[in-house]
Amino acid sequence: MEKNEIINSLNRDLRAELSAVEIYSAHAQAIKEDEIAQGVKAILEVERGHAQELTKRIEELGGLPAKSGEAETRLGKALGVSSGEGSTLEMLKFELSEEQQAIKDYSAEIADIMYDTSTISMLKKHLMDEIDHADWLKSKIAVLEGKQK
Ligand SMILES: [Fe+2]
Ligand SMILES: [Fe+2]
Repeated sequence: MEKNEIINSLNRDLRAELSAVEIYSAHAQAIKEDEIAQGVKAILEVERGHAQELTKRIEELGGLPAKSGEAETRLGKALGVSSGEGSTLEMLKFELSEEQQAIKDYSAEIADIMYDTSTISMLKKHLMDEIDHADWLKSKIAVLEGKQK
């Protein structure tokens, strides 16, 4: 990937992270089960950190980082609010689908970037966080569906 492609790719990640922040914020307020709401809040803080790190890296590469409040994060807010009207199980399933997409997007970027080890090490950290989030969501979904082993 050329530097411009890396910047564009990181901006796509950043928009997804800003959207995740909106979704998790809405769900943290909507979820009634205290333990699950606390877990969602913990994930929310990690996603905020991801957005900050992506913003910093895009600036270091000379790019212009996407900002909260642009069209795509407003979409995140709308999605977060509308899916926040569903059940806890529906919210967790929606969050899981976002985490699964993030895992695939970060993996593809890590595979494709050739010469930017700083960006790759940041993306690897984000990828491991998203895998942890997906694992936690899967375990809570299994409990709510009565399918835990
Ligand atoms: Fe993230
Ligand atoms: Fe995540």
